[in-house]
Amino acid sequence: MGWGVLEGFLCIQPTRSRSYWKMLSPERLAKLMHTEGAGKEHPSRTFVASLIQKGESVLDAGCGAGANYEALLEADRVAGYVGVDSSEPSIQVAHELYPNGDFRVGNIMSLVHQFGEESFDVVIVRHVLEHLPDFQKAMAESISVSRKLAVFVFFLTPRRLPCGLRKVNPRIDPPYYTYIYSQSAIENFLEKSRLYYRWHYNVGASRTDWLVNETNSVLVVARNRS
Ligand SMILES: C[S@@+](CC[C@H](N)C(=O)[O-])C[C@H]1O[C@@H](n2cnc3c(N)ncnc32)[C@H](O)[C@@H]1O
Repeated sequence: MGWGVLEGFLCIQPTRSRSYWKMLSPERLAKLMHTEGAGKEHPSRTFVASLIQKGESVLDAGCGAGANYEALLEADRVAGYVGVDSSEPSIQVAHELYPNGDFRVGNIMSLVHQFGEESFDVVIVRHVLEHLPDFQKAMAESISVSRKLAVFVFFLTPRRLPCGLRKVNPRIDPPYYTYIYSQSAIENFLEKSRLYYRWHYNVGASRTDWLVNETNSVLVVARNRS
């Protein structure tokens, strides 16, 4: 992670969202996030499903090819699911895999414009923020469209970064992931917005443990203390 930290100080990190997902073949999209333990059985998907109360509505922001939809169907709790993703090919694959699902093209950066404030009980954002140039706008939009919870799952767990850095690029598998964010930057943002939050760590170990001490983490943000 040394070079990534240096890049952070020199401000030469990427500034655009990853558009990788728009260029993958439908066959690859149908497999990625669905197979090899990454599908409905992944512990972070089942953990997120367990946070949802029977009859609640869900927006799945950055839904990809719909694996969360399958996990939520299996949990049999959700009443009203909408998946939204900026990758048109992913949305097309999701429609093909789950013809009864409601999947739409959209940007996590403009959820309020697309859906309106407080339009879903729970908003799920799983493995998306790390692909963006910053967490704040996407997090704010996701929280604004939620009535109760916004749930953020990280592949690259936010952590204490040196010298107040807001993010570093660990340069793992570059087409996929971009940033590890500063945990304190995220917490400062939530505290300023007067939101309640809780971190859950080790929600399913990933295969990159050895490289970035990665374990999958979940940040649950609530409007009200419960
Ligand atoms: C690692 S995949 C995760 C897919 C899904 N959340 C899951 O857990 O199976 C990341 C997804 O984020 C989507 N994404 C990236 N930037 C986005 C944006 N600005 N708005 C909406 N979706 C975005 C990508 O197209 C991709 O489908």
